[in-house]
Amino acid sequence: MAGILNALVRTNKKTDIVMSVRDIKKIFMEGGQPLPILTGGGFDLAAGEIVALVGPSGSGKSTLLQCVGLLDKPTGGSILIDGTPVHQMTEEERTVIRRKKIGFVYQRHNLLSDFTALENVMMPMLANGVAEDLAAIHALKLLKAVNVDHRASHLPGEMSGGEQQRTAVARALANNPEIILADEPTGSLDPAHASAVFDLLLDIVRKKKMALLFVTHDMNLAARADRKITIENGRVNKL
Ligand SMILES: Nc1ncnc2c1ncn2[C@@H]1O[C@H](COP(=O)(O)OP(=O)(O)OP(=O)(O)O)[C@@H](O)[C@H]1O
Ligand SMILES: [Mg+2]
Repeated sequence: MAGILNALVRTNKKTDIVMSVRDIKKIFMEGGQPLPILTGGGFDLAAGEIVALVGPSGSGKSTLLQCVGLLDKPTGGSILIDGTPVHQMTEEERTVIRRKKIGFVYQRHNLLSDFTALENVMMPMLANGVAEDLAAIHALKLLKAVNVDHRASHLPGEMSGGEQQRTAVARALANNPEIILADEPTGSLDPAHASAVFDLLLDIVRKKKMALLFVTHDMNLAARADRKITIENGRVNKL
């Protein structure tokens, strides 16, 4: 009986892992010379888990996030998303997985400046084939969830930094992804606004049981994660 239970627990645990990264390597070529930034190590990310990625500037945090977020290709190692190896996929296949399963909040919020807040949030849904009227309704709901629906028709240049960042959070949530990757999501905000945007992000991620991997230099924010990982001399490790 205990054996069966253990096996069930193990099975559950296995399916719980939404992202599994092993021996990750990224070498840039700089002036004809190899520049190793990621040199090994890895991590698992379970459904609903909140993990902080910390480390000094230039240690490779954004590089790691870009690789596991399928925006860049690692030089070596493996990345599994829901058990599927994605590191060897073609660009087209990776785009499909990224659109379906991953929401990305960039280090700089990266909203499209010629489009309104509403249109920015609609964009990932339209890319996934959602009809325009449905996308608009859902985008407005998301803007409401991050308290910026009163600025839905504003261009990014007509919004405050905090409002833009909250719009970027809404955009990352648009396709209801299993995994949110956030690169210093509140890095450009003052402490009060940073805390408010971060609270919102955590609240939504917890409610929806999404996994969140976020980069931060703020130890107070890192302390609110379930656990921390870091990059030391290129190796991705538990902290
Ligand atoms: N495309 C590239 N070509 C060459 N070197 C790069 C490239 N992208 C990043 N690097 C280098 O890789 C290193 C890690 O960069 P990365 O942006 O991942 O650091 P980071 O840990 O996110 O730093 P920060 O905390 O300042 O955002 C840096 O030294 C950077 O110059
Ligand atoms: Mg960075």
